[in-house]
Amino acid sequence: MCGIVGYIGKKSAVDILLEGLTNLEYRGYDSSGIALNIDNKVQLYKAAGKLQNLKNIVEKNYSEISKSTIGIGHIRWATHGAPTIENAHPHSCNCGKVAVVHNGIIENYKELREKLEKNGCTFRSQTDTETVAHLVATKYGETHDLTEAVRLATKEIEGAYALCVIHQDVKNTIVATRRNAPLVVGLGDGENFVASDVPALIQYTKKAMYLDDNQIVTLTPDSIKLIDIDNNPLSQKVETLPWEPVALSKMGYKHFMLKEIHEQPDVVRNVLSGKLRAIDENITLNEVTLDKDKIKDLNRIQIVACGTSLHAAMVGKYIIEDFCGIAVDVEPSSEYIYRKTITDKNTLVIGVSQSGETADTITAVRQAKCKGSHILIITNRPDSTMAREADSLVPVNAGIEVSVAATKSYMAQLISFYLIAIYIAEVKNSMPANELADLKHELIVLPQKIEKVLAHKEDIQKCAKAFSSSKDFIFIARGINFPTALEGALKLKEISYINATGYTAGELKHGPIAMLDESMPVLSILMSGKVYDKILSNSEEAKARNARMIALTDSEDEKLNELFDYIIRIPEISEILSPALSIVPLQLIAYYIAEFLGKDVDQPRNLAKSVTVE
Ligand code: M6R
Repeated sequence: MCGIVGYIGKKSAVDILLEGLTNLEYRGYDSSGIALNIDNKVQLYKAAGKLQNLKNIVEKNYSEISKSTIGIGHIRWATHGAPTIENAHPHSCNCGKVAVVHNGIIENYKELREKLEKNGCTFRSQTDTETVAHLVATKYGETHDLTEAVRLATKEIEGAYALCVIHQDVKNTIVATRRNAPLVVGLGDGENFVASDVPALIQYTKKAMYLDDNQIVTLTPDSIKLIDIDNNPLSQKVETLPWEPVALSKMGYKHFMLKEIHEQPDVVRNVLSGKLRAIDENITLNEVTLDKDKIKDLNRIQIVACGTSLHAAMVGKYIIEDFCGIAVDVEPSSEYIYRKTITDKNTLVIGVSQSGETADTITAVRQAKCKGSHILIITNRPDSTMAREADSLVPVNAGIEVSVAATKSYMAQLISFYLIAIYIAEVKNSMPANELADLKHELIVLPQKIEKVLAHKEDIQKCAKAFSSSKDFIFIARGINFPTALEGALKLKEISYINATGYTAGELKHGPIAMLDESMPVLSILMSGKVYDKILSNSEEAKARNARMIALTDSEDEKLNELFDYIIRIPEISEILSPALSIVPLQLIAYYIAEFLGKDVDQPRNLAKSVTVE
């Protein structure tokens, strides 16, 4: 939520800031702004709405604005105050010499604001962030040292923040700090960068330094100085970023979402690579440090996650219970953290998160850690806060996911769960070797099956077109594909704003069936296996209420032609692995419906990719 970026060097700052903000747009897009030091004066440029509005303002004043070689920028996902120009960052103090950009929430901002107002500060916005600008200005007035002013300010601030600050009188300096919000420093030659996330830096440098909580960094073009909140000097490990700038290109696709859907066969290959070597070899999970004896003693697994990651976790529950005979609870992180959870050292707690920065999931795993549980994190970002908290790590290797709607990271999470379940089953000897070998073989050939689905996307496109004017949509499934129904519905609602819901097919007659008539599409996920006949009869019940019926199936059964108005056929697959194939057409249906409706596919309204507030 919210992206911040800072540049200091010899080049024109505005170009680098706008490029950085473009690559951070997935974190929010309600409003944006930059602050630059032009001719020894801090100047703010802000716009409500999409980043393009800010770019238009910059374009009109480019010859003036491009002179500056120092600046900070922000892209906002509103928490306190509407997404207006006044509330857009950067924020400033009375004299206008300080500019601050912030990602997070200042929890004690009301008390701070009251105190600052009493001391003569005039507020122009409704944001929590403006308190920081006034506070830093006050502290600077006392110390005449920007780093010290920021350090003293952070001693009074409660909550979560990543902050970048500049001051008109301290030329060639940016001060940045963080607490419970991500911040990375990029090291260049005669220039330095700071940002919420790597995509803002990767075009310019591969050398980076991740800040820990309560560290304060002072950047000049030629130096980086790091201290802790008590003013002790620190040294920090410089890492080489594994990302390539090409990850941020659409590669000819109209949207990142479509590109990322098409990347899934390779994502599966990447996740399996080095972990599943041959069907007669055990799975290798190098970063899982949980002792094999402890795995045998596990009496419970809890999985915490949000959104799409939660749906992957629900599939994970089915697989682990089936293969390993261990009871698994899955809970949204936001619920887990506000009740008395029974967790102990014999419970493995798995946190699943694409970004590794989801505030609720971070809090949930921290709580479980305090109770002695081993924490295993499944994440696409091994450089994230959550990964740094992990006892064991399963990096999912999906590559940078830009589209706000998660697709390839879901696939990577699913495959990771298959690997984890097989790994535990091999340690516990809880599954016959031939069954595990069959599944390993199926995992190896899965990418080809996904490729086949993608090759026939025109049929899916036709079906999407036929249903694009529907106001509501129901997805039904049973067993291991119930989470697929939830995920298909989530994809559709988040990018097309259609009221879509996933139900277990057996629950339909306990209430939702009342909604069915000729205007309601019902999509049945009808994969071969033990619940096939049951879903078929639930589909008959829906058809009898005149619903418009769509089947997603791996069956060649001719009888389906009578019952369903549209049939999306996918390659045959075992029931246990089917969620990793059946989700692909649902991602495409959601994509094509949103595209037909002319929606902003990659940046749907009100959403942000990384939800760093509780
Ligand atoms: O980064 P995370 O996986 O922790 O994010 C969790 C959710 O915010 C995320 O899955 C969200 O639901 C996506 N927009 C789904 O497409």
